[in-house]
Amino acid sequence: MAIKRVMVIGAGQMGAGIAQVAAQAGFEVLLHDANETALDKGMQRIEKLLIRAVQKTRITDEEKTSTLNNLKRAEKLEDARTCDLVIEAIVENMDVKTKLFRELDEIALAHTILATNTSSLPITEIAAVTKRPEQVIGMHFMNPVPVMKLVEVIRGIQTNDETYEKIAQMADKLGKTAVEVADFPGFAANRILMPMINEAIYAVYEGVASPEDIDTVMKLGMNHPMGPLELADFIGLDTCLYIMEVLYDGFADSKYRPCPLLRKYVKAGWLGKKSGRGFYVYN
Ligand code: CAA
Ligand code: NAD
Repeated sequence: MAIKRVMVIGAGQMGAGIAQVAAQAGFEVLLHDANETALDKGMQRIEKLLIRAVQKTRITDEEKTSTLNNLKRAEKLEDARTCDLVIEAIVENMDVKTKLFRELDEIALAHTILATNTSSLPITEIAAVTKRPEQVIGMHFMNPVPVMKLVEVIRGIQTNDETYEKIAQMADKLGKTAVEVADFPGFAANRILMPMINEAIYAVYEGVASPEDIDTVMKLGMNHPMGPLELADFIGLDTCLYIMEVLYDGFADSKYRPCPLLRKYVKAGWLGKKSGRGFYVYN
Protein backbone atom coordinates (compact mmCIF):
# COMPACT_ATOMS: atom_id res chain seq x y z
CA MET A 1 0.00 0.00 0.00
CA ALA A 2 1.34 3.47 -0.90
CA ILE A 3 2.28 5.87 1.89
CA LYS A 4 -0.26 8.69 2.10
CA ARG A 5 -0.81 9.40 5.76
CA VAL A 6 2.06 9.80 8.20
CA MET A 7 2.19 10.22 11.96
CA VAL A 8 5.25 11.92 13.47
CA ILE A 9 5.73 11.27 17.17
CA GLY A 10 7.73 13.84 19.14
CA ALA A 11 7.17 17.50 18.27
CA GLY A 12 10.65 18.67 19.31
CA GLN A 13 13.14 20.15 16.90
CA MET A 14 13.42 16.98 14.79
CA GLY A 15 9.77 15.85 14.85
CA ALA A 16 8.46 19.31 13.96
CA GLY A 17 10.96 19.53 11.09
CA ILE A 18 10.02 16.08 9.75
CA ALA A 19 6.29 16.90 9.99
CA GLN A 20 6.89 20.17 8.13
CA VAL A 21 8.78 18.66 5.20
CA ALA A 22 6.30 15.77 4.90
CA ALA A 23 3.32 18.19 4.88
CA GLN A 24 5.12 20.41 2.34
CA ALA A 25 5.63 17.35 0.13
CA GLY A 26 1.85 16.73 0.11
CA PHE A 27 1.51 13.94 2.68
CA GLU A 28 -1.31 14.04 5.24
CA VAL A 29 0.57 14.46 8.50
CA LEU A 30 -0.45 13.99 12.13
CA LEU A 31 1.93 15.41 14.73
CA HIS A 32 1.80 13.91 18.22
CA ASP A 33 3.72 14.55 21.45
CA ALA A 34 3.19 13.17 24.95
CA ASN A 35 3.63 16.71 26.23
CA GLU A 36 0.86 19.10 25.14
CA THR A 37 3.01 22.22 25.53
CA ALA A 38 5.68 20.64 23.31
CA LEU A 39 3.02 19.85 20.73
CA ASP A 40 1.78 23.48 20.80
CA LYS A 41 5.35 24.74 20.41
CA GLY A 42 6.06 22.31 17.55
CA MET A 43 2.94 23.41 15.64
CA GLN A 44 3.77 27.10 16.23
CA ARG A 45 7.36 26.57 15.12
CA ILE A 46 6.23 25.05 11.82
CA GLU A 47 3.83 27.93 11.14
CA LYS A 48 6.53 30.49 11.95
CA LEU A 49 9.03 28.85 9.60
CA LEU A 50 6.44 28.72 6.81
CA ILE A 51 5.60 32.41 7.29
CA ARG A 52 9.31 33.21 7.10
CA ALA A 53 9.65 31.10 3.94
CA VAL A 54 6.80 33.11 2.32
CA GLN A 55 8.47 36.39 3.33
CA LYS A 56 11.70 35.17 1.75
CA THR A 57 9.69 34.17 -1.38
CA ARG A 58 10.96 30.60 -1.01
CA ILE A 59 7.34 29.36 -1.08
CA THR A 60 4.05 30.98 -2.08
CA ASP A 61 1.23 31.88 0.30
CA GLU A 62 -0.85 29.08 -1.31
CA GLU A 63 1.91 26.56 -0.59
CA LYS A 64 1.97 27.68 3.03
CA THR A 65 -1.82 27.27 3.31
CA SER A 66 -1.85 23.83 1.69
CA THR A 67 1.04 22.69 3.94
CA LEU A 68 -0.86 23.82 7.03
CA ASN A 69 -4.01 22.08 5.72
CA ASN A 70 -2.00 18.85 5.38
CA LEU A 71 -0.88 19.07 9.00
CA LYS A 72 -3.04 18.14 12.02
CA ARG A 73 -2.40 17.82 15.73
CA ALA A 74 -2.92 14.32 17.10
CA GLU A 75 -3.80 14.37 20.78
CA LYS A 76 -3.89 10.57 21.03
CA LEU A 77 -1.32 7.95 20.08
CA GLU A 78 -4.27 5.78 18.94
CA ASP A 79 -4.55 8.04 15.85
CA ALA A 80 -1.57 6.05 14.52
CA ARG A 81 -4.22 3.53 13.47
CA THR A 82 -5.12 5.74 10.50
CA CYS A 83 -1.55 6.02 9.19
CA ASP A 84 0.58 4.14 6.65
CA LEU A 85 3.85 5.27 8.20
CA VAL A 86 4.80 6.34 11.72
CA ILE A 87 8.07 8.21 12.23
CA GLU A 88 9.23 8.30 15.84
CA ALA A 89 11.34 11.29 16.95
CA ILE A 90 11.22 11.16 20.75
CA VAL A 91 14.01 11.18 23.32
CA GLU A 92 17.17 9.13 22.47
CA ASN A 93 16.61 6.44 25.09
CA MET A 94 16.18 2.73 24.33
CA ASP A 95 13.70 2.00 27.15
CA VAL A 96 11.43 4.91 26.21
CA LYS A 97 11.61 4.11 22.50
CA THR A 98 10.93 0.36 22.92
CA LYS A 99 7.94 1.10 25.19
CA LEU A 100 6.51 3.33 22.45
CA PHE A 101 7.20 0.77 19.69
CA ARG A 102 5.40 -1.95 21.69
CA GLU A 103 2.36 0.35 21.96
CA LEU A 104 2.52 1.36 18.30
CA ASP A 105 2.72 -2.27 17.22
CA GLU A 106 -0.60 -2.90 18.98
CA ILE A 107 -2.28 0.22 17.56
CA ALA A 108 -1.07 0.39 13.94
CA LEU A 109 -2.64 -1.53 11.06
CA ALA A 110 -0.81 -4.56 9.65
CA HIS A 111 0.63 -2.73 6.62
CA THR A 112 1.97 0.26 8.59
CA ILE A 113 5.73 0.87 8.61
CA LEU A 114 7.27 1.95 11.90
CA ALA A 115 10.34 4.16 11.38
CA THR A 116 12.67 5.65 13.98
CA ASN A 117 14.70 8.83 13.69
CA THR A 118 17.14 7.53 16.31
CA SER A 119 20.61 9.06 16.05
CA SER A 120 22.48 6.01 17.22
CA LEU A 121 20.42 3.20 18.77
CA PRO A 122 20.32 -0.29 17.19
CA ILE A 123 17.35 -0.65 14.82
CA THR A 124 17.39 -4.44 15.26
CA GLU A 125 16.79 -4.06 19.00
CA ILE A 126 13.92 -1.59 18.54
CA ALA A 127 12.36 -3.82 15.85
CA ALA A 128 12.63 -6.91 18.07
CA VAL A 129 10.03 -5.63 20.55
CA THR A 130 7.39 -5.60 17.77
CA LYS A 131 5.61 -8.42 15.94
CA ARG A 132 6.52 -6.75 12.62
CA PRO A 133 10.35 -6.44 12.70
CA GLU A 134 10.39 -6.69 8.89
CA GLN A 135 8.50 -3.35 8.77
CA VAL A 136 10.70 -1.45 11.22
CA ILE A 137 13.48 0.78 9.87
CA GLY A 138 15.77 3.68 10.75
CA MET A 139 15.07 6.97 8.96
CA HIS A 140 17.69 9.34 10.34
CA PHE A 141 17.12 12.98 9.33
CA MET A 142 19.65 15.74 10.01
CA ASN A 143 19.04 18.94 11.91
CA PRO A 144 17.61 21.38 10.80
CA VAL A 145 15.40 19.01 8.80
CA PRO A 146 13.99 21.58 6.34
CA VAL A 147 17.54 22.55 5.30
CA MET A 148 19.71 19.43 5.48
CA LYS A 149 19.55 17.10 2.46
CA LEU A 150 20.66 13.80 4.02
CA VAL A 151 18.63 10.91 5.39
CA GLU A 152 20.51 7.85 6.63
CA VAL A 153 18.34 4.77 6.03
CA ILE A 154 19.18 1.84 8.31
CA ARG A 155 17.77 -1.67 8.04
CA GLY A 156 17.49 -3.85 11.11
CA ILE A 157 18.52 -7.46 10.59
CA GLN A 158 14.91 -8.43 9.72
CA THR A 159 13.84 -5.33 7.72
CA ASN A 160 12.49 -6.44 4.33
CA ASP A 161 13.27 -5.00 0.89
CA GLU A 162 9.77 -3.59 0.41
CA THR A 163 10.07 -1.49 3.58
CA TYR A 164 13.53 -0.27 2.55
CA GLU A 165 12.33 0.70 -0.95
CA LYS A 166 9.30 2.57 0.37
CA ILE A 167 11.40 4.56 2.84
CA ALA A 168 14.10 5.37 0.28
CA GLN A 169 11.35 6.58 -2.10
CA MET A 170 9.73 8.58 0.70
CA ALA A 171 13.08 10.31 1.41
CA ASP A 172 13.28 11.17 -2.28
CA LYS A 173 9.75 12.65 -2.26
CA LEU A 174 10.79 14.81 0.70
CA GLY A 175 13.62 16.23 -1.42
CA LYS A 176 16.31 14.35 0.52
CA THR A 177 19.15 12.06 -0.52
CA ALA A 178 18.94 8.66 1.13
CA VAL A 179 22.16 6.85 2.01
CA GLU A 180 21.92 3.26 3.22
CA VAL A 181 24.00 2.67 6.31
CA ALA A 182 24.49 -0.56 8.29
CA ASP A 183 23.06 -1.01 11.78
CA PHE A 184 26.17 -0.17 13.85
CA PRO A 185 26.17 2.19 16.86
CA GLY A 186 25.93 5.81 15.65
CA PHE A 187 25.49 4.59 12.04
CA ALA A 188 27.88 6.69 9.89
CA ALA A 189 26.94 10.32 10.66
CA ASN A 190 27.24 10.26 14.42
CA ARG A 191 30.09 7.75 14.57
CA ILE A 192 32.14 10.42 12.82
CA LEU A 193 30.57 13.69 14.04
CA MET A 194 30.04 12.96 17.73
CA PRO A 195 33.64 11.99 18.65
CA MET A 196 34.70 15.34 17.11
CA ILE A 197 32.17 17.19 19.28
CA ASN A 198 33.22 15.17 22.36
CA GLU A 199 36.89 15.99 21.65
CA ALA A 200 36.03 19.69 21.38
CA ILE A 201 34.37 19.43 24.82
CA TYR A 202 37.53 17.74 26.19
CA ALA A 203 39.54 20.64 24.77
CA VAL A 204 37.39 23.09 26.79
CA TYR A 205 37.58 20.81 29.87
CA GLU A 206 41.38 20.67 29.70
CA GLY A 207 41.70 24.42 29.15
CA VAL A 208 43.08 24.21 25.62
CA ALA A 209 40.93 27.16 24.53
CA SER A 210 37.57 28.80 25.21
CA PRO A 211 34.40 27.50 23.47
CA GLU A 212 34.39 30.64 21.30
CA ASP A 213 38.01 30.11 20.23
CA ILE A 214 37.54 26.40 19.51
CA ASP A 215 34.52 27.21 17.36
CA THR A 216 36.51 29.91 15.55
CA VAL A 217 39.32 27.40 14.86
CA MET A 218 36.90 24.97 13.23
CA LYS A 219 34.89 27.63 11.34
CA LEU A 220 37.82 29.62 9.96
CA GLY A 221 40.33 26.79 9.89
CA MET A 222 38.14 24.04 8.42
CA ASN A 223 35.26 26.00 6.88
CA HIS A 224 32.65 24.28 9.07
CA PRO A 225 29.38 26.28 9.03
CA MET A 226 29.15 26.00 12.84
CA GLY A 227 31.86 25.29 15.39
CA PRO A 228 31.54 21.96 17.27
CA LEU A 229 30.36 23.57 20.53
CA GLU A 230 27.79 25.75 18.80
CA LEU A 231 26.65 22.62 16.95
CA ALA A 232 26.50 20.59 20.18
CA ASP A 233 24.26 23.28 21.71
CA PHE A 234 22.14 23.21 18.56
CA ILE A 235 21.75 19.41 18.57
CA GLY A 236 21.06 19.31 22.34
CA LEU A 237 23.69 18.30 24.90
CA ASP A 238 21.41 15.54 26.27
CA THR A 239 21.20 14.02 22.78
CA CYS A 240 25.01 14.33 22.35
CA LEU A 241 25.55 12.53 25.67
CA TYR A 242 23.06 9.76 24.81
CA ILE A 243 24.84 9.21 21.48
CA MET A 244 28.30 9.11 23.10
CA GLU A 245 27.00 6.57 25.62
CA VAL A 246 25.64 4.38 22.80
CA LEU A 247 29.06 4.52 21.06
CA TYR A 248 30.96 3.85 24.32
CA ASP A 249 28.74 0.89 25.30
CA GLY A 250 28.24 -0.42 21.76
CA PHE A 251 31.94 -0.60 20.84
CA ALA A 252 33.27 -1.09 24.41
CA ASP A 253 36.12 1.21 23.40
CA SER A 254 37.47 3.93 25.70
CA LYS A 255 38.02 6.28 22.75
CA TYR A 256 34.28 7.04 22.92
CA ARG A 257 34.29 7.96 26.66
CA PRO A 258 31.88 10.90 27.10
CA CYS A 259 33.67 13.98 28.45
CA PRO A 260 32.87 14.54 32.18
CA LEU A 261 32.09 18.19 31.38
CA LEU A 262 29.35 17.05 28.98
CA ARG A 263 27.86 14.89 31.75
CA LYS A 264 28.05 17.78 34.20
CA TYR A 265 26.27 20.19 31.86
CA VAL A 266 23.46 17.69 31.20
CA LYS A 267 23.07 17.04 34.94
CA ALA A 268 22.81 20.81 35.46
CA GLY A 269 20.00 20.99 32.90
CA TRP A 270 22.25 22.93 30.50
CA LEU A 271 21.00 21.18 27.38
CA GLY A 272 22.06 23.84 24.86
CA LYS A 273 19.86 26.10 22.77
CA LYS A 274 16.59 24.33 23.69
CA SER A 275 17.07 24.98 27.44
CA GLY A 276 18.57 28.48 27.06
CA ARG A 277 22.08 27.51 28.17
CA GLY A 278 24.84 25.16 27.08
CA PHE A 279 28.33 26.24 26.03
CA TYR A 280 26.63 29.54 25.17
CA VAL A 281 23.73 31.46 26.72
CA TYR A 282 20.60 32.03 24.59
CA ASN A 283 17.72 34.48 24.99
N1 CAA B 1 15.02 25.38 10.94
C1 CAA B 1 14.65 25.59 9.67
N2 CAA B 1 15.36 26.36 8.82
C2 CAA B 1 16.49 26.93 9.28
C3 CAA B 1 16.93 26.75 10.60
C4 CAA B 1 16.15 25.94 11.44
N3 CAA B 1 16.52 25.68 12.71
N4 CAA B 1 18.08 27.45 10.76
C5 CAA B 1 18.36 28.03 9.59
N5 CAA B 1 17.40 27.72 8.69
C6 CAA B 1 17.33 28.15 7.30
C7 CAA B 1 17.17 29.65 7.23
O1 CAA B 1 15.81 30.01 7.24
C8 CAA B 1 17.84 29.97 5.92
O2 CAA B 1 16.91 29.76 4.85
P1 CAA B 1 16.91 30.69 3.53
O3 CAA B 1 18.06 30.19 2.72
O4 CAA B 1 15.59 30.41 2.93
O5 CAA B 1 17.12 32.08 3.99
C9 CAA B 1 18.95 28.93 5.76
O6 CAA B 1 18.61 27.88 6.67
C10 CAA B 1 20.30 29.49 6.14
O7 CAA B 1 20.18 30.04 7.44
P2 CAA B 1 20.97 31.30 7.97
O8 CAA B 1 21.36 32.18 6.82
O9 CAA B 1 20.20 31.92 9.08
O10 CAA B 1 22.21 30.70 8.69
P3 CAA B 1 23.40 29.86 8.13
O11 CAA B 1 23.77 30.21 6.74
O12 CAA B 1 24.41 29.98 9.20
O13 CAA B 1 22.86 28.35 8.11
C11 CAA B 1 22.60 26.27 9.15
C12 CAA B 1 22.29 27.75 9.23
C13 CAA B 1 22.00 25.67 7.88
C14 CAA B 1 21.98 25.62 10.37
C15 CAA B 1 24.17 26.11 9.09
O14 CAA B 1 24.76 26.80 10.17
C16 CAA B 1 24.61 24.66 9.15
O15 CAA B 1 24.60 23.95 8.16
N6 CAA B 1 25.03 24.23 10.35
C17 CAA B 1 25.46 22.84 10.57
C18 CAA B 1 24.25 21.96 10.72
C19 CAA B 1 24.62 20.53 10.89
O16 CAA B 1 25.77 20.13 10.92
N7 CAA B 1 23.60 19.70 11.06
C20 CAA B 1 23.77 18.30 11.35
C21 CAA B 1 23.72 18.11 12.85
S1 CAA B 1 24.01 16.43 13.30
C22 CAA B 1 22.53 15.70 13.07
O17 CAA B 1 21.54 16.28 12.73
C23 CAA B 1 22.50 14.22 13.37
C24 CAA B 1 22.23 13.84 14.77
O18 CAA B 1 21.70 12.74 14.95
C25 CAA B 1 22.65 14.62 15.94
P1 NAD C 1 13.70 17.12 21.54
O1 NAD C 1 14.11 17.03 22.97
O2 NAD C 1 13.77 18.44 20.85
O3 NAD C 1 12.20 16.57 21.35
C1 NAD C 1 11.77 15.32 21.81
C2 NAD C 1 10.25 15.39 21.97
O4 NAD C 1 9.76 14.07 22.23
C3 NAD C 1 9.80 16.27 23.15
O5 NAD C 1 8.88 17.23 22.67
C4 NAD C 1 9.15 15.30 24.12
O6 NAD C 1 8.04 15.86 24.79
C5 NAD C 1 8.71 14.17 23.19
N1 NAD C 1 8.57 12.87 23.84
C6 NAD C 1 9.43 12.30 24.74
N2 NAD C 1 8.96 11.07 25.07
C7 NAD C 1 7.80 10.88 24.37
C8 NAD C 1 6.87 9.80 24.26
N3 NAD C 1 7.03 8.67 24.94
N4 NAD C 1 5.81 9.94 23.43
C9 NAD C 1 5.62 11.07 22.72
N5 NAD C 1 6.47 12.13 22.79
C10 NAD C 1 7.56 12.03 23.59
O7 NAD C 1 14.60 16.04 20.77
P2 NAD C 1 15.09 16.06 19.25
O8 NAD C 1 16.37 16.79 19.17
O9 NAD C 1 13.94 16.43 18.37
O10 NAD C 1 15.46 14.52 19.06
C11 NAD C 1 14.46 13.55 18.85
C12 NAD C 1 15.08 12.29 18.27
O11 NAD C 1 15.75 12.63 17.03
C13 NAD C 1 16.15 11.61 19.14
O12 NAD C 1 16.10 10.24 18.95
C14 NAD C 1 17.44 12.20 18.60
O13 NAD C 1 18.56 11.38 18.85
C15 NAD C 1 17.12 12.25 17.11
N6 NAD C 1 17.90 13.21 16.34
C16 NAD C 1 18.23 14.41 16.89
C17 NAD C 1 18.95 15.30 16.13
C18 NAD C 1 19.34 16.64 16.68
O14 NAD C 1 20.19 17.31 16.09
N7 NAD C 1 18.77 17.10 17.77
C19 NAD C 1 19.31 14.98 14.81
C20 NAD C 1 18.91 13.75 14.28
C21 NAD C 1 18.21 12.87 15.06
